[in-house]
Amino acid sequence: PRSTLVLGVETSCDETGAAVVDETGRILGECLHSQKEVHLKTGGIIPTVAQRLHREHVSTVVHGALRSSGAAPGDLAAVAATVKPGLALSLGVGVAFSADFARRHRKPLIPVHHMEAHALTVRMLEPVEFPFLVLLVSGGHALLALARGIDDFLLLGQTLDEAPGDSLDKVARRLHLKNHPECSSMSGGQAIEFLAKQGDRHKFNFKTPMGQTYDCNFSFAGLRNQVTMTITKQEMAEGLNQGDMLSCVSDIAAAAQHTVASHIAKRTHRAILFCKAKGLLPESNPTLVVSGGVASNSYIRQALGIVTDATGLHLRCPPAKFCTDNGVMIAWNGIERLREGKGILSYDEKVHYEPK
Ligand code: KG4
Ligand code: ZN
Repeated sequence: PRSTLVLGVETSCDETGAAVVDETGRILGECLHSQKEVHLKTGGIIPTVAQRLHREHVSTVVHGALRSSGAAPGDLAAVAATVKPGLALSLGVGVAFSADFARRHRKPLIPVHHMEAHALTVRMLEPVEFPFLVLLVSGGHALLALARGIDDFLLLGQTLDEAPGDSLDKVARRLHLKNHPECSSMSGGQAIEFLAKQGDRHKFNFKTPMGQTYDCNFSFAGLRNQVTMTITKQEMAEGLNQGDMLSCVSDIAAAAQHTVASHIAKRTHRAILFCKAKGLLPESNPTLVVSGGVASNSYIRQALGIVTDATGLHLRCPPAKFCTDNGVMIAWNGIERLREGKGILSYDEKVHYEPK
């Protein structure tokens, strides 16, 4: 029998991604175009710029993925596209392109929820049965959810302000880490992890957020504020000029990373205890899946490892490549949906997308 192939298209934020995946989770072809360099220069994503770049690249990326897979459009079982959540202008490009592609080739279209796709990618790599707990921490998200089925998620907590990767990127910018000889090509989070290894976290003490809040939500803006105020104070004490590197830059990185890790670990611990108390996790092999760009931080993974060891959960962190935005996770969500026959539109149905 011929294998089931799905083309996945992702344009919700600043990556234009496409991939062809089969029902066994084999990636036949993939292509990714990142806008991160462009947005770095403007200090954040300008939605109209993101939209223009998606428009410029979506066709090349999709055809690149198809070409490397060796599959023709006619071989596809369906086209899956991210329809929410994300930047409206970015989402619109991938949705319009995918709908047009599906119509031209008479293929079903599968609308995909970006967060659900992140949460399920692990199942492409190894058998993880529902229900399982999932933590997503990246530049755009922080959330804890119980995955009960491919389209059944119980949201346990999310960030009330910004995402941890966003906070780390802002702290890195405030520390001028782009001028650091060893960190110039790293993302903010990577630079902080790198410097933290050389620093002493005890030299500074930041307060872990939400110590008195008895839920599983996150907050990183206040912590970022504590860190930037400390940086300003140190800069004044050292009498630095604009752009100069603080002598204690590694110690601040270490303390900031520690506090982010501690906050994430504590909220995750609460979520695990809640799920256990309500009998929401299975007796055998209860699992925590961690994904998102920030999940590649080994200090944060270690902190989560302490929590899962203490509570008897298995910790699963897919390799970094599968934790960040790409077409593969969208194609895999399409495979999961085809298998269960859920949320599949025919090529002539109208597809809606929504930022929230
Ligand atoms: O998932 P991702 O690639 O995409 C977005 O959500 O945009 O995550 C990128 C984020 C950035 O904020 C980056 O600073 C952070 O993940 N990040 C890290 C590490 N590597 C990337 N944060 C902490 N430690 C790392 N090693
Ligand atoms: Zn994402």
